Amino acid sequence: MDTVLSGIRPTGYLHLGNYFGALKNFIRMQEENNCYFFIADYHSLTTHPDTKALHNHIKNVLIDYIAAGLDPEKAVIYVQSDVPEVCELNLLLSMHVYVGELQRVSSFKEKVRKQPDNVNAGLLGYPILMASDILLHRADKVPVGKDQEQHLEMTRDFAQRFNSFYNVDYFKLPLAYNFGEQLVKIPGLDGSTKMSKSDNENSCIFLSDAPELIRKKVMKAVSDSGPTVPNQEKPQSVENLFSLMQAVSTPDTLAFFENQYAQCQIRYGDMKKQLAEDIINFTAPIYEKIKFLQNDHDYLSKIAKTGAEKARENAQKTIKDVREIIGLKHL
Ligand code: TYM
Repeated sequence: MDTVLSGIRPTGYLHLGNYFGALKNFIRMQEENNCYFFIADYHSLTTHPDTKALHNHIKNVLIDYIAAGLDPEKAVIYVQSDVPEVCELNLLLSMHVYVGELQRVSSFKEKVRKQPDNVNAGLLGYPILMASDILLHRADKVPVGKDQEQHLEMTRDFAQRFNSFYNVDYFKLPLAYNFGEQLVKIPGLDGSTKMSKSDNENSCIFLSDAPELIRKKVMKAVSDSGPTVPNQEKPQSVENLFSLMQAVSTPDTLAFFENQYAQCQIRYGDMKKQLAEDIINFTAPIYEKIKFLQNDHDYLSKIAKTGAEKARENAQKTIKDVREIIGLKHL
């Protein structure tokens, strides 16, 4: 049985990118694997969130997880900071990671550009903490979106480096996973290649958006004035509408609009109306469940508590092994 693990930073509500990048694959795997899904609240501290907002985000992400189909009976669902063992692994792994390699990571360079006044050491060490999350549970597979590929490569490097330095075969080398298919990147409604809350909240459809809001957002999505020659290459914004349609609509619907585009007969208004309805169809059951769970504080806190207990039990085994491997044994 494989161990599968994934996580999401609590920066707000979950959007379609989070769903198709990480959650969907995870949900498909929870029946037959040993599964851990967590809320990466330590990671979100790198952007200095407001305390009260962070607390609400953690709760909302937990609600979104369960509403989207994570089953607390099948997967261990926990909040990262409830399992502080990850901090010890982070420290121990960091002795074998070099500052130069962290400075070259694309996500670090991007953050330096975006928040030049807050280039903290947590940002630099972000990949070590992420590797610690994964190695703490000795995961085999990590369902994530395309943007996390480099972090997974680094995780494998760190695991391999640890194994060879201490001459053991302890850590597995985990894979970013999407059922043998390419990792996905869901685009934004604003013409950008990635739906991302931190880049532009308006580019996102959240799982918790009401149908009316989804219609409004999709109708406002960026497109162009339409193709003028048959089979014309699509500009990014139009490509994005088709990618979203590919994620939520039937193959027939997609083929219909592809054909209309190829023949220069496309009416973006019609396409957007169809896309909005297909997104609403897709999110409606999740949206209903979110509303239902919102006030069930006892249920949510029971899930977080049970998840933390199970995750800690497993994490403590890893820490005990790692201490022994390194030579940190009790006298
Ligand atoms: P985060 O919080 O940025 O995103 C959570 C997950 O959603 C995926 N994702 C997307 N996938 C496709 N298209 C998009 N537009 C899109 N936007 C987001 C991300 O790829 C990710 O899988 N570092 C991680 C959190 C983390 C983690 C871990 C993940 C911390 N430790 C250990 C896996 C294992 C992050 O910031 O994801």
